[in-house]
Amino acid sequence: MNMMRKKSIQAMMRQRQSKDGTLKKELGTFDLTMLGVGCVVGTGIFVMTGVAAAQHAGPALVLSFIIAGIVCAFCALCYAEFASMVPISGSAYTYSYATFGELVAWILGWDLILEYGFAAAMVASGWSGYFQGLLSGVGIHIPKALTSAYNSGAGTYFDLPAVAIALLLTFIVSRGAKESTRLNAIMVIIKIAVIVLFLVVGVFYVKPSNWSPFMPFGFGGVITGAATAFIAYIGFDVVATAAEEVRNPQRDLPRGIIYSLIVCGILYVLVTLVLTGIVPYTELNVKNPVAFAIQFIHQDWVAGFISLGAIVGITTVLFVLLYGQTRLLYSIGRDGLLPKGLSKLNAKTQAPSISTWSTGIIVAIFAGVLPLDKLSDLVSIGTLFAFISVSLGIIILRRTRPDLSRSFRVPLVPLIPILAILSCGYLLVSLPAVTWEAFLIWMVLGLIIYFTYGVKKSRLAQPGAEDEIDS
Ligand code: ALA
Repeated sequence: MNMMRKKSIQAMMRQRQSKDGTLKKELGTFDLTMLGVGCVVGTGIFVMTGVAAAQHAGPALVLSFIIAGIVCAFCALCYAEFASMVPISGSAYTYSYATFGELVAWILGWDLILEYGFAAAMVASGWSGYFQGLLSGVGIHIPKALTSAYNSGAGTYFDLPAVAIALLLTFIVSRGAKESTRLNAIMVIIKIAVIVLFLVVGVFYVKPSNWSPFMPFGFGGVITGAATAFIAYIGFDVVATAAEEVRNPQRDLPRGIIYSLIVCGILYVLVTLVLTGIVPYTELNVKNPVAFAIQFIHQDWVAGFISLGAIVGITTVLFVLLYGQTRLLYSIGRDGLLPKGLSKLNAKTQAPSISTWSTGIIVAIFAGVLPLDKLSDLVSIGTLFAFISVSLGIIILRRTRPDLSRSFRVPLVPLIPILAILSCGYLLVSLPAVTWEAFLIWMVLGLIIYFTYGVKKSRLAQPGAEDEIDS
């Protein structure tokens, strides 16, 4: 039993090039950037910025977004180097299989299942809130029991719209990468157009006096705001899960990851500046801050577009998270650490059907019954953990495997990865104890699964797999 066995990168690349049982390679830089922006711009900017400005950072929320953006940029560079070196589905899970060995890879894979799965369920709930707002605007009301997750005090039992959107998007993902990424690209363009509309209309109503006092809660408040901003950036990493469907991964993956982050960073900084410039931060304690700001300046015709854009925008986040989760399960199933059926491709669509539907159904159940609004910290812990391992992996592989071809190289190694590790580590230790407890329970569950299943069923444990092990 060898839990530290590493997967050989050459063997992974051979597997990527084989014709059988592999995903269709049809995505380019544009599709990847659209996937990245699709997964990043969502609840973070459309829902959470208001509360973060009103309760934590004030107008200095823009600083929170700049700080979180810089932290994510360090991590994105590390993801980009890995993606150019190991363009295989599975993202941080796959990278650590080559760097740290099977046990750590499994821990990270299990961690990413948490990140993508809970984030998807959480985003589905956010979608449901916006959607119901739009329905009630036209006089349609869903029975109260079906409007939100279980809360006997409030008389709600099941979030029907959240379940419906999760299943609908699962169906779309099950139709294959090209069809679904095309639809995603259209929705992302609508989302960006709506944000630009907000900026263009809003900028004329900015009153610089609203930016003062700039830091009403001090620098501590800016850092608390950065935790929210961090969630708003999550998603650029999911681009790496598409690796095996990319035509020219060594070139396009680093570009897709970095371009996504640049586009989102610019949008976020401008939105937070305009938002806090038109509404005094004390009044921003709302769940739909962007639409609220537009109503505040009495541009009601724009507010309708903004709500629609937010719904479309949050849909793409959910879509990409579901997509990423299915590709991750595909990789883990192929490696034998979870049942092999997860890596089976549908003959017609060449998409992993069992992965897709099992992800969709579990996410739909979570979104329907669990009150997920408190779980954003759990999503953060999972993501930070993955970011730290990827950054550490860059430093290690530069020493142990200088021979590997890297079409993208992180500048100033080891400085940038070290800064990524320290800044993510700082955000990690500032998370509340209850989040750590929930995370540890999840991890213990993962270890039980590994030691009772994965370690024996692993592809690398089977006779004849010697040439896939990095010795
Ligand atoms: N970044 C994603 C969002 O803000 C998770 O919805």
